[in-house]
Amino acid sequence: MIGYGFMGRAHSNAWRQVRSFFDVPYEPVLKTICGRNEAEVKKVAANFGWEEYSTNWEDVVRRDDIDLVDICSPGHTHAPIAIQAAESKKILFCEKPLANSLVEAQDMLEAAQRNACVHMICHNYRRAPAVSLARKLIEEDRIGNIYHYRATYLQDWLRNPEFPTRWRLDKSKAGSGALGDLFSHSADLGRYLVGEMSEVTALLNTFVRTRPVVNDELKAEVDVDDAALSIVRFENGALGTIEATRYATGRKNFNRFEINGSKGSLAFNLERMNELEFYSDEGPNSGFTTIQTTDRAHPYLRGWWPPGHIIGYEHTFTHTVLELLWALAEERLPTPNFTDGVKNQRILDAVERSANSRTWVSV
Ligand SMILES: NC(=O)c1ccc[n+]([C@@H]2O[C@H](COP(=O)([O-])OP(=O)(O)OC[C@H]3O[C@@H](n4cnc5c(N)ncnc54)[C@H](O)[C@@H]3O)[C@@H](O)[C@H]2O)c1
Repeated sequence: MIGYGFMGRAHSNAWRQVRSFFDVPYEPVLKTICGRNEAEVKKVAANFGWEEYSTNWEDVVRRDDIDLVDICSPGHTHAPIAIQAAESKKILFCEKPLANSLVEAQDMLEAAQRNACVHMICHNYRRAPAVSLARKLIEEDRIGNIYHYRATYLQDWLRNPEFPTRWRLDKSKAGSGALGDLFSHSADLGRYLVGEMSEVTALLNTFVRTRPVVNDELKAEVDVDDAALSIVRFENGALGTIEATRYATGRKNFNRFEINGSKGSLAFNLERMNELEFYSDEGPNSGFTTIQTTDRAHPYLRGWWPPGHIIGYEHTFTHTVLELLWALAEERLPTPNFTDGVKNQRILDAVERSANSRTWVSV
């Protein structure tokens, strides 16, 4: 694993949990975790039971006793790590967005394919049971033809202009701001639930252009977007709106979508992730039903607790690595994979081109 921060800890937990709760034909061995700060990486390695730690990912990804490389570091590191790991024939598991540019993402996919690597991207929200159930209901034609996809991904951690800069606000490291961080998730859920997008028109905005630097009198320029808004047209004729921002005062991780079809509608909000709202013309009432997605029959729930004993954010990562292990056992490519990552990056790229040119652009 490369990176021991937020995602490094979420993935470490997932690899540790997966075999305790689900039947999987492999035993993940947490071999070595990498980061640049030796004292910190040592601490995380001990907390999560990694056998070793390292401050040099180049050495680690070439090792013969490593089968899988899990990339949990900032965007600018994804392509070099994934391509090196692909050349060393490793299984590739990478955080989203796949890269900082479409070209880099394509290079990663090409390296993975050329070396016949199994590859997966971590769009973990697909694996919230309520989201998987939404997909199942759509596949069963329970909401009919889809007319609308209305997605918002709202946070507020940047609204204070004195909040100091970090890698996420530096284009050379993050690639983009709310666009790659939040919008990319909503775009992935749109592709997963509704279909491919054909064209977009978009707005990007940076509200605060300089920010304090920790332990420094200088201010740093913010060269990524704070908010990304888009209108999208899907290939199947559905219309969508996606709004992602770090300035939605009061909203912490408001990852919500609503889908309206000819026979019914679905709505999901990560902050109430054990629930799926479902409206059906076939139902006895004229309102939405809230389905609590904790019965054993619901996706992934047979591994966890009795009905009504809710699960949380970290479980989405456990389900994602479970999908990867199942795919390995069945000798197929897991989803979403680097091809999905490239398709997602095409959308991000189109959003940027549209915002810059103030026109509709094709995906
Ligand atoms: N799936 C999700 O919901 C989700 C959520 C948050 C972040 N992410 C993605 O995960 C990735 C990491 O984000 P994070 O929030 O965990 O960041 P973070 O800042 O919490 O952690 C980043 C880690 O990368 C390490 N790192 C940075 N540069 C490195 C380098 N050159 N070589 C080796 N290690 C390096 C740091 O030491 C740190 O351990 C990003 O791609 C981000 O977009 C995904």
